[in-house]
Amino acid sequence: MKIAVVGAGLMGSGITQQCAQSGYPVVNIDTFAAAQEKSKTNLKLLFDKKIAKGKLTAEDAAEVLARISYSTDYAAAADADLVIEAVPEKIELKKEVFSKLDGVCKPDCLLLSNTSGLSISELAAATKRPQQVIGTHFFYPAPVMKLVELIRGLVTTDEVYLKAKSFIESLGKTTVDAPEYPGFIVNRILVPMQNEAAFMVMEGCSPEDVDNAMKLGTNMPMGPCELTDFVGIDVMLATMTGLYNGFHDSKYRPCPLLERMVKAGHLGRKSGQGFYKY
Ligand code: 3HC
Repeated sequence: MKIAVVGAGLMGSGITQQCAQSGYPVVNIDTFAAAQEKSKTNLKLLFDKKIAKGKLTAEDAAEVLARISYSTDYAAAADADLVIEAVPEKIELKKEVFSKLDGVCKPDCLLLSNTSGLSISELAAATKRPQQVIGTHFFYPAPVMKLVELIRGLVTTDEVYLKAKSFIESLGKTTVDAPEYPGFIVNRILVPMQNEAAFMVMEGCSPEDVDNAMKLGTNMPMGPCELTDFVGIDVMLATMTGLYNGFHDSKYRPCPLLERMVKAGHLGRKSGQGFYKY
């Protein structure tokens, strides 16, 4: 089975890595060659660390890396049996990617979108094979996190759902069926909690106190502010805005502090500054 992953950002890179680690030949497609270079460098660094810690052999690392190829051309997905789109959470961008994939992919190719909350039915409608489109929500970091939410669009067939589920399970992940409503399951619960943490910081609490309280009081591996920095303030704000617009409910109002931080370019770990400095 040949896999194509579209997008070399944090999620696309992690999903590409996971597919290769699970034994699949995988081509990563991104129109920005620079993003792929960064992704390659990060993966090598990650593997070097694992080799140094004795958790991976140099031979195994080389085998995994050899299963990954890179292309800036969508035509590279022509012989794929399954494609996972993992470009940024912008509906118009994702629709454009799906329409391009529809033009190059084999008729029986499964089309998966990695999205944290967008409508699968809407993405599917950008193709002439909406029944073959299904949503998969991986969590960051994709190779580490055990869960993948599966989201069926209005016309996704049972056959496509079962094939997608069995593929995800072959990656060593556990799936849950999530409803096609903003935030699915995890983000609908998790992101408002992170948003509330941002409101508390805006009101004067220190991020350290908020994080320590939640880590020590609820055994979270990372506090909510640390986690927001980790996934990206912009990503978290976009998810919260998706909940707000999707449910038309003021209880999902994004915290103004997050909006100010994004405007200032404070995007969390990836920009060097978020609730904390990196
Ligand atoms: N990519 C791949 N692997 C990674 C990684 C990355 N970015 N970061 C860490 N890892 C691996 C490490 O290589 C290590 O593997 P090893 O045990 O084989 O050496 C393993 O993860 C543990 O890493 P560390 O020992 O460096 O660090 P920790 O033990 O502190 O764990 C963590 C790091 C797994 C990230 C942990 O802090 C954690 O679980 N944090 C919470 C993550 C979380 O909640 N994610 C969900 C975010 S919400 C989301 O994704 C939804 C989206 O829509 C916004």
